[in-house]
Amino acid sequence: MSEPIISIRGLRVVYHALRGVVKAVDNVSLDVMKGELIGVVGESGSGKTTLAMAILRLLPPKVARIVGGHILFDGLDLATAREEELRKVRWSRISYVPQAALNALNPTLKIIDHFMETAKSHGIRDRKWVVERASELLETLRLEPERVLNSYPHELSGGMKQRVLIALSMLLNPEVIILDEPTTALDVLTQYFILNLLRAIKEKYNMTMMFITHDIAVIAGIGDRVAVFYAGKVMEIGDVYTIFKRPAHPYTRALIKSIPTLTGNIEEMKPIPGTPPDLINPPPGCRFHPRCPYAMEKCKRVEPPMVELKPGHLAACWLLA
Ligand SMILES: Nc1ncnc2c1ncn2[C@@H]1O[C@H](COP(=O)(O)OP(=O)(O)OP(=O)(O)O)[C@@H](O)[C@H]1O
Ligand SMILES: [Mg+2]
Repeated sequence: MSEPIISIRGLRVVYHALRGVVKAVDNVSLDVMKGELIGVVGESGSGKTTLAMAILRLLPPKVARIVGGHILFDGLDLATAREEELRKVRWSRISYVPQAALNALNPTLKIIDHFMETAKSHGIRDRKWVVERASELLETLRLEPERVLNSYPHELSGGMKQRVLIALSMLLNPEVIILDEPTTALDVLTQYFILNLLRAIKEKYNMTMMFITHDIAVIAGIGDRVAVFYAGKVMEIGDVYTIFKRPAHPYTRALIKSIPTLTGNIEEMKPIPGTPPDLINPPPGCRFHPRCPYAMEKCKRVEPPMVELKPGHLAACWLLA
């Protein structure tokens, strides 16, 4: 396996909400390996977007705080780096396609101007360079460059806009792209079309991708590895084959059983009973214990450690420890 490009160690992020302190990311350690496509999956509210925003240090300043841990990237700790150091990394070395970004394109600007604005904010004013680079990227994403660059956002379909956003995030040739639910708003066929394109551009440009989704099925066809999040914690990490064929954690197994299949019997699909916990007062011990069919006494009291089941396959569960 290759070396890590981003190493997250013991990361803790909290939000100061009116109701109390939300422990949105709690002691998360994760390596993102150079050149891989890693899926970060988990139910709504499990801390996926918080993790992405922490890596880029785009968390809402007054409400959110990184209260522990490190995010190591090329000798820099992004968790504590100063704003001027972060500016050199953001977008040009690690870029981000935010969740629900489809609506974030400025309706009064043509697509070319979106590319120009992004370039300008990084000191590039050479329009010819921007048009050439944008055209190449759009073409790779199977869009007609000339038509798209001269369109306004409302003239494009959702799938086209999503591809424009991906091209925008690649404009400055970053080493890492973090995509937050990039296909969630799209129909299934467009989703699969874009997923395959993502895989192809990752190979072509030799990039590293972190793909965030609540839908574990999405990652099956395109990911190299998967990190399964639950209630602000990593429950299991492994390569895609292992996670889908030999999932070890009861939560991962439940997630996979909850996937509707096109050919399968609807009765075989089992939603996970219960709801994710409130992260202001998460359950003691294993955070999944209130919903876990195998929960033992110990699970209610002591948090299970992350154990390596085989090289590269880790899970945090007392059944496995
Ligand atoms: N600005 C905020 N203020 C207070 N709490 C927040 C804020 N943003 C997120 N949270 C809380 O932090 C936790 C993690 O949220 P986050 O958005 O990271 O989850 P997610 O896994 O991305 O969910 P989704 O799949 O719905 O996008 C949730 O409990 C959420 O309510
Ligand atoms: Mg999110």
